[in-house]
Amino acid sequence: MHIITIMIILGIETSCDETSLCLLEKKEVIDNGKKTIKYRILAHSIHSQIELHKEYGGVYPALAKREHIKNLPIMFENIMLETKIKHSDINLIAVTEGPGLEPALWTGIVFAKELSIKHNIPIIPINHMEGHIVSTMLKNTEASEQYLELNNIDFPALGLLISGGHTELIDINNIGEYTILGQTRDDAIGEAFDKVARMLSLPYPGGPEISKMAQYARKNNIKNNITLPRPMINSKDLDFSFAGLKTSVLYLLKEKVTITDEEKYDLAREFENTVTEVIISKTKKALDQKSYGSIIVGGGVIANSFIRKEFNKLSKEYGIPLLIPLPGVTGDNALMIALAGAFKYKGNENYIDTIKAKGNLKLGK
Ligand code: KG4
Ligand code: ZN
Repeated sequence: MHIITIMIILGIETSCDETSLCLLEKKEVIDNGKKTIKYRILAHSIHSQIELHKEYGGVYPALAKREHIKNLPIMFENIMLETKIKHSDINLIAVTEGPGLEPALWTGIVFAKELSIKHNIPIIPINHMEGHIVSTMLKNTEASEQYLELNNIDFPALGLLISGGHTELIDINNIGEYTILGQTRDDAIGEAFDKVARMLSLPYPGGPEISKMAQYARKNNIKNNITLPRPMINSKDLDFSFAGLKTSVLYLLKEKVTITDEEKYDLAREFENTVTEVIISKTKKALDQKSYGSIIVGGGVIANSFIRKEFNKLSKEYGIPLLIPLPGVTGDNALMIALAGAFKYKGNENYIDTIKAKGNLKLGK
């Protein structure tokens, strides 16, 4: 194996309540006479602030900002010590520019800029949602001596991004070539999970809590007495809406005055069934409109085991391979940002003078 180029990419993610850094090695090699690119995870650390935000029932931006500022230099020093990499060995900084909470995004960008100036390292801005797309390619998420194996995406691919801030269907012609086919008109699916959980006095983030209760209801055959509407399931477009569903839950709880534990389990299962049916139905609609080579589902909500199972069924039914992230990278992380940076970087660009936080950054048209 003959090495042509070797570069080290520092990934930085601070768009919400996870501070994350990653050092990713990208090697261009000639292997058996063929030019190939090999990746290796040198270090990856994720620091979640969930415990601190819990008392506010959601992410408190000023607190997120303060924590990122505090954590970034410590985490950076740790990964540098751990890998024994020198600052001058870093060839590129890939940092999330948006979408996300602007005060939080800025902390990562400012940190990247300081390093960039001090050590003369170029910066490439990354769309957080593109990070969630490429996270589904990872076959390994741990730092290791081994090269990384990546899942192959057959383009065009249909992407569904489901997170705390997004619910969107995307036509992926290639990495970097995106067209939004449909999106939520109001709340995101993760936001709906979080809000319904809050109505049931469950802690933040609500997704995993609702999911646990729904699982319990299925396992114990809790009687199904609650029915929720399936918002926009029959609309002709590929848009979503979850605000009305949240309101239905609110009215239902108001009517009941008191709610038994059985009813809570029933409600959690009905809610999970409802949102799953909606996203599955819209994904089918998109698959019926165009021929796709792969289905990609990314974003924090795909940690949900019921939703994962239903998408696996859909993939079998349509005979189209499904790419979903491994459990370690369903949520926000810098590995996906570094990998997206590795794909995007052409070799001599530097965005240090123009990069800024873009809270509402869109993925494509
Ligand atoms: O991608 P992510 O980590 O952050 C954003 O970019 O928004 O997604 C966070 C969202 C939260 O709304 C959280 O409740 C949801 O993902 N989530 C889940 C599960 N785990 C996390 N939703 C449903 N079921 C889960 N198991
Ligand atoms: Zn995310």
